[in-house]
Amino acid sequence: MHSSVAKLRSVLRRLHGPTTTESSSLAYQDLYIKGKRIQRGTLDTLSIYSSWCVDIDFAGKSYLDLGCNAGAYAFLAADDGATRVVGVDLVNEHILEAKAYLKHYSGRSLEFVTADLFAFLSEHDARYDIVSAIALVRHLIAQKMQAGAQPEDRRFNKWMTFDSFQKIVRRRDPVAAGHFDAVVNQLIAFSMEHFIFSMQDRAGGFLRNKPETIDRLRALNPRIQNCEIFAPSSRNPHHVFFVLSLSPNR
Ligand SMILES: C[S@@+](CC[C@H](N)C(=O)[O-])C[C@H]1O[C@@H](n2cnc3c(N)ncnc32)[C@H](O)[C@@H]1O
Repeated sequence: MHSSVAKLRSVLRRLHGPTTTESSSLAYQDLYIKGKRIQRGTLDTLSIYSSWCVDIDFAGKSYLDLGCNAGAYAFLAADDGATRVVGVDLVNEHILEAKAYLKHYSGRSLEFVTADLFAFLSEHDARYDIVSAIALVRHLIAQKMQAGAQPEDRRFNKWMTFDSFQKIVRRRDPVAAGHFDAVVNQLIAFSMEHFIFSMQDRAGGFLRNKPETIDRLRALNPRIQNCEIFAPSSRNPHHVFFVLSLSPNR
């Protein structure tokens, strides 16, 4: 492969992570098993996890990680005392990678499932204390929009532009905002205490308008009591994490 093409691919991978269609042989996540790093990837999962889980106590809790990739956050939460952990990913290759480390957790309730997460959620009615969808929501919005889009509607080819949370907050694109609401609401429904998700925003609008962002999220679902925003990665300052604290499920 031409070296500049290889370099560009590696930069894009670092910025966006593997896409749903990409079959990546390059490790994406740093993997920690029982406190020891056993795989170096392009993503510093420990720093990211350490920032968003700062006020979250996993001990004795159930945790569902949607779009878990090779299971980095699932293993970290298990090591922090989560008693039931489930990771779901669309790509079997990632799930096989995660499953290879299950031998270190024998006797623990830790499970990885290859599935589209909406199919998984519709077949399972369990609720989890903590649910995360990290670097995933924009993929889900894109998938929903593409599934519902008319082929001649060119806007849907430009779904990456919906990375801008500013647009969603200010409802500059009602279709994107509607899909965002639907996706986030659906995922919140499976969460008892906390729902964590992340988005990219090249405009950085959510930082400048933090109260506006929080108000927007609070209005989205009456269960949202509080929202904290973290931008933990110096490698990608546009990647921002939202930790929503929820009132109990009705
Ligand atoms: C950008 S990666 C993020 C991985 C991980 N959450 C992290 O932050 O390190 C997105 C992941 O979501 C998975 N994914 C995308 N669409 C999905 C879907 N509909 N259901 C389940 N997993 C999905 C992809 O296979 C990929 O592993």
